Amino acid sequence: MNFLYTILINTKPSDIFQITFLTICFYILHFYYLHFTRTNPLPGPMPIPLIGTFEIFRAHIDIDAWFYKLTQKYGQNGVFELNLIGNRQIVITRAEYVNKFMTPASDQENHMKHLMRTANNGLLDLFDLDCKGVGLNHNYNFWKFNRQIFYQAIKTACYAEETCKLINNLYEEMINYWINLKKSNDDSVVVDAAAWMRRFTNDFISVVATSERTFAIKHYYQILNNEKITQEILDSEDFVECISNFFEDNQMIFIPKVLRKFPLIRGRVHKMMDTCDYLYKRLVQRIRRRRKEVEKLVNASNFDTSQLKNDLLTSMVVANTPYETTPQKNVDPSLLRPMTDDEIRGIMFDAFAAGTDTTANTFCFVLYYITHHPEVKKKLLEELRTVFKDDLTRPVTMDDLNKLRYCEAIINETSRIRPTVSMVSRYGNQADEVAGYKWPADILFIMYVRGINNNSLYWKDPEKFNPDRFYDPQEIEKQHKFGFTMFGGGLRMCLGRNLAMIEMKILLASLYRKFDVELVDMKAPLNIRTSTVTICKNLDVRIIPKAELC
Ligand code: HEM
Repeated sequence: MNFLYTILINTKPSDIFQITFLTICFYILHFYYLHFTRTNPLPGPMPIPLIGTFEIFRAHIDIDAWFYKLTQKYGQNGVFELNLIGNRQIVITRAEYVNKFMTPASDQENHMKHLMRTANNGLLDLFDLDCKGVGLNHNYNFWKFNRQIFYQAIKTACYAEETCKLINNLYEEMINYWINLKKSNDDSVVVDAAAWMRRFTNDFISVVATSERTFAIKHYYQILNNEKITQEILDSEDFVECISNFFEDNQMIFIPKVLRKFPLIRGRVHKMMDTCDYLYKRLVQRIRRRRKEVEKLVNASNFDTSQLKNDLLTSMVVANTPYETTPQKNVDPSLLRPMTDDEIRGIMFDAFAAGTDTTANTFCFVLYYITHHPEVKKKLLEELRTVFKDDLTRPVTMDDLNKLRYCEAIINETSRIRPTVSMVSRYGNQADEVAGYKWPADILFIMYVRGINNNSLYWKDPEKFNPDRFYDPQEIEKQHKFGFTMFGGGLRMCLGRNLAMIEMKILLASLYRKFDVELVDMKAPLNIRTSTVTICKNLDVRIIPKAELC
């Protein structure tokens, strides 16, 4: 004690300065010593002590464009690295290196080594996403159970003719709104496709998940039509906007906890928390309402299970209760109990988040590329004439969908050149060999989808928009198995892939059957905001009725 006291009273301010200076120097030397002696050193931007790769933290960076630039600069050998306050992130830009993550779900042993999306040292728990839902769930048993219940509900929807009818009806309703918004002296109408598509997909996924509409397209129309703004309209608009806000900055979930109060980060963390709180509150209201409906039904004397709604929300409300019609298999015993509101909310959040912006943005990119490629539009119209003959009004059926091969090729080619989900991550929780290197546990791998999808090793003239790559059987045969991904792969592959394709194909066929679509500004580049998902901020298009209809 005396010794410490003597040191303290003899310490001058200049000594404190020197000690601080030396500590910082030591930290920097230590940081770079670790950096230069790391195993498997890979090319990448030089990290800054304490922070790592600074750009990851910048708020309004076009993160996808930055990744693309890094891929050109450092990704020549198919792999480069970033650093997030000392944690390495390995970015993969070659198809042959992603096979570990993309191989069929049956290869369980391989997948178990990197089944999670993040190291869970970020802000997932702050947003209550670490043990909830499917997409970011970090608890294996929960994730498996949730994925199974989600899969069953979505699978039913994918095979139901009802789903086609629903999309056809929503489309007709939306078109009628557009026509009503037309100025009387004009045949065409200008709409912001990005805004409409977000509301369309939101309404659609709401019916699939809950059998109830959000009426997002109707409310948006009411606003544009200058109708009286009610609380219901405001709520619906806030709900759709909040989902987009979540995706606009969702690299936040990877930012380490220790940085949450840093000036550059704090405001963004609060914004994200507000967004999540709002969405969660709205979802829990719906869940409680459904619980009450189910309770009322099962307490009635004439109850039988066929009276229950056939949707994701109801299947979760009745899961592990005597009213469950399709019990889940191989469930961890700790989960053999009814689900709590918050657990159901986690899955509902995924359904709305993953089901709204992904499909809406992909569809906007599809419109953008078709308008810039008249030869593609010509071929699309030929396909529509072959499938629908001269019938411009009959609803699109499941049977038609199988014939709309060129429509699907356009969607695939759009997603190759401008993927909506351009980064897919996997966290290695065991030592493994990836990209030709032996890695210890605790490494985050990022499959840079746009880098792979546009790599000239797998695609001739990758920058050229050419749907024939996915239409011509000879072209398809030449493709590298993992040279194109849209929905990820392996055990964590997208659960909504079939549903999204059905939705986009019906929309594409219905729209181009009756209308011509032009960009209002052909010279403007895509107006996007990128995080791990690329958001189309706005896409003004002119919708022109086909001459024969005028
Ligand atoms: C064009 C539309 C869509 C695209 C491009 C897309 C893309 C993706 C991608 C790349 C992943 C990550 C897969 C992986 O890690 O390997 C994913 C996961 C997921 N998607 Fe989609 N998706 C779309 C539509 C949908 C829809 C409509 C739904 C819901 C109805 C949905 C639900 C999910 C879920 C729940 C996951 C998480 C799966 C898991 O982690 O186990 N997606 N999606």
